[in-house]
Amino acid sequence: MSAPSLEARIAALKRERRAVILAHNYQLGEVQDAADIVGDSLELSRRAAASPAEVIVFCGVHFMAETAALLAPGKTVLLPVLDADCPMARMADAAGVRRLKAEHPGAITVGYVNTTAEVKAECDICCTSANAEAVIAALPRDRPILFLPDQYLGAWVRARTGREMVLWPGYCPTHARILAQHVLARREQHPGAPVIVHPECRPEVTALADAVLSTGGMVRFARETPAREVLVGTEIGLLHRLRRENPGKLFIPVTEQAICPNMKKIELEHVLQALESMEHRITVPEEIRVRAVASVERMVAAAA
Ligand code: 13P
Ligand code: SF4
Repeated sequence: MSAPSLEARIAALKRERRAVILAHNYQLGEVQDAADIVGDSLELSRRAAASPAEVIVFCGVHFMAETAALLAPGKTVLLPVLDADCPMARMADAAGVRRLKAEHPGAITVGYVNTTAEVKAECDICCTSANAEAVIAALPRDRPILFLPDQYLGAWVRARTGREMVLWPGYCPTHARILAQHVLARREQHPGAPVIVHPECRPEVTALADAVLSTGGMVRFARETPAREVLVGTEIGLLHRLRRENPGKLFIPVTEQAICPNMKKIELEHVLQALESMEHRITVPEEIRVRAVASVERMVAAAA
């Protein structure tokens, strides 16, 4: 008898541990295929909180697992590779945010979900790429806004809402690799194909796009568009899901260079190891958790 496959061992252990496997849209194809739920950061946080599972194996980057831990304090949240981290989330620190707030008394501090729990605890409200515009548009108009850490997402929302916003100078190194010249070259090769890009892209790239969407928004766009070819400006891991769900359509990356090395650290073997060893547990000190979760919950209420 042949030894059970990695997938079969993961499935058996998952049942034994009463675990659920969540994977972000940028994960390796093999990890997405083994997951119970694949989604964008907002969808995954919500599903983590709503899941009846006792253990959440979070295949994504550190801040995503931490957000799940914030929202599901009674559950065990495991990140299979501990140093799978988002460099943009590390570009803002709590002390720096406190200094900025002191310089702008009366301002509302909005933190992108790509932040540490310590930074979320300093924010009044959170947002994701899926709801940033709705969250900002719902804020009182007589107060300025401090937005962190993504200057490009911030600039895009500022242009959409016309709000006064001070932007933290962070950015996503992966999305910053997508350039306007890549969009123009691909358009020439595929005339008429719609261009969809993530709001973490540079302003000159979002300005060229037909739609600016979170990864979850791109999944819906791909399903609904009558176009047979779509040009996709985001981390290339999303292409696996778009192609699997829409076999009759062609998805072309704006550039193949948009790879997030941290999103590629988790392999199937690590998912099995996480379930075997129950490592690495992601926890948040309670005094930080209560303040951080309040800004996440305000987001959920504002964007509902
Ligand atoms: P989404 O919330 O759109 O999935 O984006 C998360 C992210 O890290 C984008 O780089
Ligand atoms: Fe962070 Fe960018 Fe990677 Fe998303 S793609 S996890 S923002 S580094």
